[in-house]
Amino acid sequence: MLIAGNWKMNTDLPGAAKLAEEVVEALGDPGPVQVAVCPPFVSLDAVFGALRGSSVKLGAQDMHFEEGGAYTGEVSAAMLRSVGCTYVILGHSERRQYFGETDEHVNKKVRQALAHELVPIVCVGETLKEREAGQERHVVKGQVERAVESVVLSDPARLVVAYEPVWAIGTGKTASPAQAQEMHAYIRRLLAEFLGEHLAGNIHILYGGSMKPANADELLSQKDVDGGLIGGASLQAGAFAAIVAAGKSQS
Ligand code: PGA
Repeated sequence: MLIAGNWKMNTDLPGAAKLAEEVVEALGDPGPVQVAVCPPFVSLDAVFGALRGSSVKLGAQDMHFEEGGAYTGEVSAAMLRSVGCTYVILGHSERRQYFGETDEHVNKKVRQALAHELVPIVCVGETLKEREAGQERHVVKGQVERAVESVVLSDPARLVVAYEPVWAIGTGKTASPAQAQEMHAYIRRLLAEFLGEHLAGNIHILYGGSMKPANADELLSQKDVDGGLIGGASLQAGAFAAIVAAGKSQS
């Protein structure tokens, strides 16, 4: 079980350090649940400091696929490693929707992250229009297939997939537990096909999209839901800790 908080473009430097401290305090002992927070780039270093001595890991929200050089405004995998990142969110629907990120970019980023021993949290998910047209499996299959193209994985712990239906992100609407389970089982079958059966069973597949303390239990109790990628609710330490506690009771 992995619960990761995606803080998106929220918190300034002191606010991020404070939130990280509050998260550590509110969590207590997360037991077998792995926990990560993904603050904005400028706060990674400070949050890493605030997490020291706890089991909470650090993640970034994006990175560039090149090693380094003339890419103004970008951040590399090595830079993320140097500030203590374990995870990096890749292909979030907001990156795809507002910043023109393509499946090809996501694939290059996944390979670059793996080469630098960062664990990619690869986001996939359909829009409302695509679901209404009955295209959700087709869309998700394409995203998963292209994200892991030419990826050679020996350890299932090195890759995380997050199913985030776009219509559920920040909208207060969640996929029903049955809808989530159905898609997660499908994603696991795809991972078995593309990466191998022996790995697919142990790759964490997270659900994301308006997960809150009130619905976390039901979602996390689904067989193929191995955790959550939490946006809005991760900005309140108490709510985030309650979701982690829900995960703990399901582990
Ligand atoms: P949300 O965001 O929990 O606010 O819906 C989830 C995400 O975008 O990762």
